[in-house]
Amino acid sequence: MRIIKLNATDSTNRFLRNLSLETPVKDFTTVVTNDQTKGRGQMGTSWQSQPSQNLTFSVYKQFGAVRFEDQFKISMVVSLAIVKVLERINIPKLSIKWPNDILSANKKICGVLIENVIKQNRIESSIVGVGLNVNQIKYDNLPQASSLKSITGVHYDLDEILQLILNQLKTEMAFIENDTFAIQETYEEYLFRKEKPSTFEKAEGLFSGIIKGVSKEGLLKVMVEDQILETFDLKTIKLLY
Ligand code: BTN
Repeated sequence: MRIIKLNATDSTNRFLRNLSLETPVKDFTTVVTNDQTKGRGQMGTSWQSQPSQNLTFSVYKQFGAVRFEDQFKISMVVSLAIVKVLERINIPKLSIKWPNDILSANKKICGVLIENVIKQNRIESSIVGVGLNVNQIKYDNLPQASSLKSITGVHYDLDEILQLILNQLKTEMAFIENDTFAIQETYEEYLFRKEKPSTFEKAEGLFSGIIKGVSKEGLLKVMVEDQILETFDLKTIKLLY
């Protein structure tokens, strides 16, 4: 596995994408930086990470036959790989907030941004970007954020955790091109607020419902007040609590 370590870069996702456009890149080539100055988050947000305290990295993966409709499988597999590693190092109360935020004790410790190259309805390759809060203990203006150290009091070695995650990603990603049911079932076991009354925000205002799971395409299944099962896209709703 080739690991490119950068002292600073704007975004490891952007760096790796550009690299892959310039030169052939092997699967699991990884770019990691101590200081990501313009980290990208989901839905056009930014990702802030204190230099040298956390993991900010991106991994390249090429696919043979993953259909565009199956892109959520990649997302589930990546979240599960990270959760399994965190479980192994005894991080408590892990859950996955749809689609792929990783929480411990209801606080966000990890965000994932997957950027795909799609050709003729197939996912040709993905850049899997991971921001894992490891040793940072102060989060200005981010009350819902936390880190491994904030939760356990332990100081972690960043390289060791990176290696564990990369190994796990390698193992789990082998299942992407088959095995949808098992992946979805395990993902739903970790799904944050599953079967609990929750409040969501959409353009028309707030509504409440009970999260029942996810569809194959990655839509969130919610039982709304009138006992009807509806599915929602990430762009249309936000889970508040
Ligand atoms: C989110 O929760 O909104 C996703 C955050 C993803 C952040 C990671 S950090 C490494 C990689 N490079 C980026 O620019 N973003 C991802």
